[in-house]
Amino acid sequence: MSVLSCKILDPKKLKDLQIAANLILAGELVAFPTETVYGLAALSTNESAIKKIYSVKKRPHYNPLIVHTSSKEETRNLYASPLPQPFFDGGGYWPGPLTLIYYKKEDVSPIITGGSNKVAVRVPSNKIAQKLIKLVGAPIVAPSANLSGRPSSTTVEHVIKTLGSKIKAILDGGLCKYGIESTIVDLTKNPAIILRRGVLELGNLNFIDGNNPDGSPGRLDRHYAPSISNIAWISTITDIANLPPNSGILYHSSHLFEKLQKTKLKPNAIKLLNSPYFYAKYLFSAFYEFEKLDINFLWIEQLPSGNAWDSIRDRIRRSLTSK
Ligand code: TXA
Ligand code: MG
Repeated sequence: MSVLSCKILDPKKLKDLQIAANLILAGELVAFPTETVYGLAALSTNESAIKKIYSVKKRPHYNPLIVHTSSKEETRNLYASPLPQPFFDGGGYWPGPLTLIYYKKEDVSPIITGGSNKVAVRVPSNKIAQKLIKLVGAPIVAPSANLSGRPSSTTVEHVIKTLGSKIKAILDGGLCKYGIESTIVDLTKNPAIILRRGVLELGNLNFIDGNNPDGSPGRLDRHYAPSISNIAWISTITDIANLPPNSGILYHSSHLFEKLQKTKLKPNAIKLLNSPYFYAKYLFSAFYEFEKLDINFLWIEQLPSGNAWDSIRDRIRRSLTSK
């Protein structure tokens, strides 16, 4: 049995926040909560710490990292010129779940940007994240705190499961507020385009027309995937009684609920609420719960139509075993 080497820190204690900041300043990796998902922090000016992120996560070197700052003002040190209108200072969404990509200042390391001349920046609104970055006194780079390709972590338990033996500490901020990642907008394109739909679209926000959801270097590979052999969509009319044994079902409709009540052979089922915000918040938790069960098949009920579900549809689509 492996002994957990990483410390669970309590962000309500200043002493623990300081321990986390000191570890980061010493070139170590620390997981911390944001309003979207947990991030894995390294000091943005320490190249060997940044390289550790890639090896610990088994992340391809070409997949760049988001730089996180504690204030809008600090982001100005990262861009080569001010953000264009109407995105100046985060367009009203900072602090919050929006990541903006623009041309980088020369001193932003190419290790962060995957060799590109553009940098992704975000100002998280989570208070623990803000305090941590302030104590570090410099921006931190932070991908989601999970092994590459696996679901993002929305609780400490998820971080421990995939990275617990490989990192020094986790700041325990409980369940993340939103549960899926930030919206990413590329401002180097004119007009700007969405590279990753995220939290902002859950509110049906449509502040940009164009999108290219496969436009980021890390977006093409299979992603967000629980370790279950077969994952596929099912529709509400599927005959649940005829699903193979060792099946799990993730669903949200009352229609499927009623069907499940009538089925003799009860598959393992998790119901999420039929609301984009609530569904998103518990999606990755549900994935990690299904992993604990002895199932070979995970069936996911088709989502309702409508733009407010697009970010979630994106995450599930990328997690399927065949598309
Ligand atoms: O909500 C979030 O954004 C979370 C929390 C921790 O802040 N972070 C997160 O990071 O989701 P990560 O590394 O798991 O996903 C970042 C995505 C990747 O798809 C990456 O390819 C893209 O952002 N990205 C980062 N920098 C980029 C750049 N310079 N150009 C294009 N895409 C970039
Ligand atoms: Mg990620």
